[in-house]
Amino acid sequence: MVELTLPKNSRIRTGKTWPKPEGATNLRKFQIYRWNPDDGENPRVDTYWVDMDSCGPMVLDALIKIKNEIDPTLTFRRSCREGICGSCAMNIDGINTLACIYGMDEIKGDVKIYPLPHMPVIKDLIPDLTHFYAQHASIMPWLETKTQRPEKEWRQSIEDRKKLDGLYECVMCASCSTSCPSYWWNGDRYLGPAALLHAYRWIIDSRDEATGERLDDLEDPFKLYRCHTIMNCAKTCPKGLNPAKAIAEIKKMMVERQL
Ligand code: SF4
Ligand code: FES
Repeated sequence: MVELTLPKNSRIRTGKTWPKPEGATNLRKFQIYRWNPDDGENPRVDTYWVDMDSCGPMVLDALIKIKNEIDPTLTFRRSCREGICGSCAMNIDGINTLACIYGMDEIKGDVKIYPLPHMPVIKDLIPDLTHFYAQHASIMPWLETKTQRPEKEWRQSIEDRKKLDGLYECVMCASCSTSCPSYWWNGDRYLGPAALLHAYRWIIDSRDEATGERLDDLEDPFKLYRCHTIMNCAKTCPKGLNPAKAIAEIKKMMVERQL
């Protein structure tokens, strides 16, 4: 079992070790990042013990159990508990993923949980996603049309609808963007894999009539071209999507329209 060792100069302290639940024989150790903006202290890592005989299989089950039965101050986001809302994204065992669909049997040894990396933290496991959402809004994540609205609906062929597979499933969890070194260093101007995947989703939507404007907006040394195909995004996406491929397709369209 690997013990958590913090570097000597780390500003993260070793925090409180909570007592083991009485009578439990099937215990699992959790080491969880804690930070409270109101106490003036540096972040710390608290240790909890969870009785696995009375806990569900997913990491989120353990977090809820800790909050309900051990430490009600532990703070994290969650809603749907089935990988749909995207709100429970965090760094678990070194991987950015969704706590509600990440099974504890996939983790060897202690379960280490941190907030998504390189984001400002609001409290404990909750990152501030204000900028991330603003970047998403900047790519106009809606159908832009110029022709007259049809009486019933904007129609799309089965083949054209298929082009949206692998894109529309994104739940905006931010796991990909926060796993990307280019986004870590240039996140103020580089849109990052999540926003660019959404940009591509609308660029290739056969019903959309703003393709030119969308590409014009992305023709920028930072917004798009800071992607260096590192591929962390595709590796980490808990929904199995490939933002790097979507970004490559946008870059290809940029070249093709110059020809
Ligand atoms: S592409 Fe995957 S990792 Fe990125 S925001 Fe969407 S669901 Fe999350
Ligand atoms: S709680 Fe909704 S995705 Fe995990």
